[in-house]
Amino acid sequence: MSRSRSTRERRADLSLSAAVDRPGPPPSAADGVWLTCVACGETFPPFEAVRYRCEACDGLLEVRYASPAGVDDFEGEPGVWRYRAALPVDAGVSLPEGDTPLHRMPRLRDEVGVGRLRVKHEGMNPTGSFKDRGMTVGVRVAQRVGVDRLACASTGNTSAALAAYGARGGMETLVLLPAGKVAAGKVAQASLHGARILEVDGNFDDCLDVVQRLTDRGAAYLLNSLNPFRLEGQKTIGFEILETLLDDHGEPPDRIVLPAGNAGNTAALYKAFRELVAAGSLARADVPRLTPVQAAGAAPLVEAVEADRDAVRRWPEVETRATAIRIGNPVNAPKALPGVRETGGTAVAVSDDAITRAQRDLAGEGVGVEPASAASLAGLRELRERGVVDAGESVVLLTTGHLLKDPDAAARAGTEPEPVPADVDGVLDVL
Ligand code: F0G
Repeated sequence: MSRSRSTRERRADLSLSAAVDRPGPPPSAADGVWLTCVACGETFPPFEAVRYRCEACDGLLEVRYASPAGVDDFEGEPGVWRYRAALPVDAGVSLPEGDTPLHRMPRLRDEVGVGRLRVKHEGMNPTGSFKDRGMTVGVRVAQRVGVDRLACASTGNTSAALAAYGARGGMETLVLLPAGKVAAGKVAQASLHGARILEVDGNFDDCLDVVQRLTDRGAAYLLNSLNPFRLEGQKTIGFEILETLLDDHGEPPDRIVLPAGNAGNTAALYKAFRELVAAGSLARADVPRLTPVQAAGAAPLVEAVEADRDAVRRWPEVETRATAIRIGNPVNAPKALPGVRETGGTAVAVSDDAITRAQRDLAGEGVGVEPASAASLAGLRELRERGVVDAGESVVLLTTGHLLKDPDAAARAGTEPEPVPADVDGVLDVL
């Protein structure tokens, strides 16, 4: 057995706090689903009113189930809606989404030096990022609560997904983007799908501040990852990884390494695994170590993990080539930090140059991703070099967005076009 197996055994007593099995359903729980504040435990009915935060203490809300679903409850075609038993609604506004590839990466596995290496390429979703998994659920809930205008702040991918799913659902969409800091492919998507694009003179965190106030005033329905229903859809990444690997060689991965901005995905994966533990489908000791990666110029979550703090300090200034994760205030940190700690994970910051190198290396094995996604490989490399990740570990990297999202970054990282004459001899001369 690899050393990772023994470290797994050492984790057997981890408590997985905030576990779904803690409080029972409140009397108002419709269909065994309700919202719970992760800070104070207050509960709310899920669909009777629009609310994004706890009315008692302003904490983050989380969807809870009277009986969390396990792998035996998953049925039907691959994709997000195969996991409807674990979701708050049983059908979505769908394009459809999920069922993304889990690529083997033998050359990179050998080069990085781990036991197994897979890449879960979320760039293969309908709009080219993992955000689609959250939107299929979130836009459906918006319809259920009876709103017809949707809004988000975005570094790009959320806006592309919101625009497409809003269009699919026949709803108006409003996206607030940091002016000049969103990759071209993402703006093009939001634009063609018919969103109203509001370019804010500020960074992403400023956009999120503004959109929260707008939606608190009822101007639109908020579909950032603060919306607990979106994270339910994103949970299905964890279910898919687990189902594929259990089918393949019967074991969950030791570790999942993923890029983090608002830390919504980190929180969603933690929730997926907690629910599987509660349902008896996964042993606590087998929950993969969650390992978020940030760009060094935008790393408040890493700072909090390294200092073993329960809260993040907002970074007023952030900068990175990986514009998708150019975020200084990871709003889901209260959900994500316990996940990192209690799965025995860690967090790591990487340089922009390491990100670009990783983007090139993934592309060199056929997998085209945007810069933020490549942070996962850069982070794994860094942790291998530091000896934090064992040589025997089975690792899944999450690549969150497609290469074409940011064509400028891809062109800068890749080979240069060479001018040639329009005749074969001229071309042969150049070759
Ligand atoms: N990777 C990509 C490609 C992203 O677009 C994002 C977030 C992340 C990683 C980070 O995910 O926030 O769950 O930790 N993009 C958001 C957006 C902020 O507006 O598109 P997280």
